[in-house]
Formats: sequence, structure tokens, C-alpha cells
Amino acid sequence: MLENRKILLCVSGGIAVYKAVALVSKLSQAGASVKVIMTRSAQQFVQPLTFQVMSRNDVYTDTFDEKDSSVIAHIDLADWADLIIVAPGTANVIGKLAGGIGDDMVTTTLLAATAPIWIAPAMNVHMYDHPAVKRNIQQLHADGIRFIEPSEGFLACGYVGKGRLEEPEKITELVKGYFTREHKLAGKKVIVTAGPTRERIDPVRFLTNFSSGKMGYAMAGAAAEMGAETILISGPVSLPVPSGVTRILVESAEDMLQAVEAHYDSSDYVIKTAAVADYRPKTVADRKMKKQEGGSTIVLERTVDILQQLGENKKNQVLIGFAAETNDVGQYAKDKLERKNADYIIANDVTEAQAGFESDTNRVTVYGKNGFEQAFDMMSKQQLARQLLDLITEKEKLHDS
Ligand code: CTP
Repeated sequence: MLENRKILLCVSGGIAVYKAVALVSKLSQAGASVKVIMTRSAQQFVQPLTFQVMSRNDVYTDTFDEKDSSVIAHIDLADWADLIIVAPGTANVIGKLAGGIGDDMVTTTLLAATAPIWIAPAMNVHMYDHPAVKRNIQQLHADGIRFIEPSEGFLACGYVGKGRLEEPEKITELVKGYFTREHKLAGKKVIVTAGPTRERIDPVRFLTNFSSGKMGYAMAGAAAEMGAETILISGPVSLPVPSGVTRILVESAEDMLQAVEAHYDSSDYVIKTAAVADYRPKTVADRKMKKQEGGSTIVLERTVDILQQLGENKKNQVLIGFAAETNDVGQYAKDKLERKNADYIIANDVTEAQAGFESDTNRVTVYGKNGFEQAFDMMSKQQLARQLLDLITEKEKLHDS
């Protein structure tokens, strides 16, 4: 499955280095060509020879040890790789990369790389929880680096908690998944809307909702990973732009409508994750409103239902809506599918713990034409976004053929 795939494994120094040996073995067995770079501390745990034998390739340990005088090793390796995995990723290597430091063979290569970089952290549970480590991980997320979250369990330091390097089998599965999905949306244009909208009342006040934008940003990231030209039209949220995604920031439902319409004709998929306001104040005061005795009333008018409008003008686009409900989820979702002429409605119950607006996880059910219905387990929004796009692209492929 990984025939002709070139994977560069960067091994930094933690007890989990022994699992990185198993990872090289699994990746090679799956047909990948693997090259390994080790930090100095990694060599305290395992000899380079072990990786050399497992990968059947030279192992790189020193930026200044140029094995081939016709190239510069760290640039050459960075250019060679289709995918770079840092496993185990220590707090040190994460910190250095977040700070742009290149002081050894691993970090100089990572800085020179244009291929996707995945980091599989492994460290003590308290180190993983340290604000500096969290900050660095967040920075690297923003830089487009993907993390393979450590699992929970017994740690070599004696603690039980989160910090174990993900199992080599699981990492290999993720790598296989990545390469099979890589080109599924190549040549396609995907528009994703995300976040809340703001409907102004006066220069200092607005109406909005609790949407965090996380699901929409995850959908955009997953579409870009699958090779789509991805336009993310986002309401006001402060989330990092996923790598490979072009973001257009908007404020109101009307702004979002304009931005979506500008790209609609040339798009293949439109994913309407945004929580668009259904109403806006009928008039917007141009000066700050002053309080008065007694109550006050704001008169609202309807905004355009963007999804419905797209549904009415649909040509070949696949239209995907989201529905956040508090009750009768299935019934409302099917009704929206019909009413808005969408191809899929992805519905979730926002009253369920860890499946709402702010959370990092979600549990949804997909509704499609001809009574199609598929429920997904609770999982991270990133993982869910990938699985949703896998499902939809597979179904659309069947539809096309
Ligand atoms: N939507 C939209 N424009 C609007 C309102 C909603 O494009 N003005 C889209 C959302 O982006 C989402 C889908 O419609 O993909 C469903 O949103 P939801 O708010 O659940 O639907 P409503 O039509 O507002 O349904 P209701 O008020 O009946 O719950």
C-alpha cells in the first residue's frame, strides 16, 4: 500500500525510541521507503545501526557529516520526503521547531521541509500538560503541522496518564489512510463556511451565537489534505488557518452570502458549517445607543438563508449543510435536506456533552437523499471531518460512475 512512498522518520530522544524501530519495520513492510534521522539523545537509547538495518538505508545523525558531496544532506532529505514523521516527538524538539531553531540534523531538516510534517509526541504527563509545551503545540498546529496525539496508559516514568507514543500499527494505519486520501479531491474546488456571524445593532453591539468555528476549520483542513482547492469563508473566530486553505474573513450573514456567491459557480462542493444568523436588526444605529428609562425593543428582519439560496441555484455542486439541534434531530435534519435542496445534512444534538459548539469533539449523523442515514461515533472534530469527507466523496464517486 505504501509502494513508492518516501517517508522520513525523525527520532528524538525518549524511551519510546524503541517503538520508532517497530514503526520503521511496519512502514517498510507496507512497502514504503524509509530514511531515519536521529538526534544525539535518541542515540543514547538505540544505536543508529538498528535503524540502518531496519530501514536498509544510511541513518543521519550529524548536519556536518555529509555522506554525499554532491548534495547537502539536510536539504536533500527534506526534498526527498513525501511525508515526515517525528516519533517520538519530545518536548525539546517540539519547542525548537516552534521557535524556529535549527541546531542539529533533525531540526535543520524540519525547517527545510516542504512535505507535510506529523509529530507523534511522547513524554511525561506533566511535561505534556506544561503551558510552554501546550503553547508550542498550538504554534505548530498554526504552522500546519499535524499531531498524532499520545495515548493514555502506563508511562516509563511510573506515571499513568497521557504521554505514550501512539502504537506503531496505529501510526502506520494513519499513514496508509493519508496516502489513499491524498488525491481524492484533486482538481476539485471546495467552499467551506465556518463560525458565527455578527449582526450589528450599533457601533459597539451585535447579535451572534456560540459557534466556535472548530468543525468548519476541521472540514476545510480535511478538504485541503485531500488535494482540493479549499476556500474557507469564516465568521469572526480566532482559529489558525489550516495548511493549504485560503481564508476569507467575513462578519455578517450578508457578507457571507456575497463571499459564497462569488465562488459558487466554480465550486464542486459547498460545506455550510457556519451558524448563520437567521435575523438581523432592521436598522443599525450609526451612533452608540444610549440607555433610556424602561425596556427597549429591537426590531429584527430575516437574513437570506444562504444554503437554501444555493440549493435553488444548484447546478452540479454537492451541497452539504449542518444542523445543530436541541431536539428531534433526525426529523429536523430530513426536513432541512428537503427544504434547502441539500445533498447531505450533517446533524448533531448540541445538548449532548462534548458534542456542542465549543468542544473539540463531536458526534453526528449524516442524512442524504433516498433515506440515506449514517451515524458516527464521538471523535475529535479533525478525525470526524476526514471521515465525513471520505464518506461523501465515496458516495459521490459511485454516483458519478
Ligand atoms: N444556513 C444558511 N443561512 C442561514 C441559516 C442557515 O446557510 N441564514 C445554513 C447553515 O449554515 C446550515 C444549515 O443552513 O448549514 C442549517 O442551519 P440551521 O440554523 O440549523 O437551519 P435553519 O434553517 O436556521 O433552521 P431552524 O431555524 O429551523 O432551526
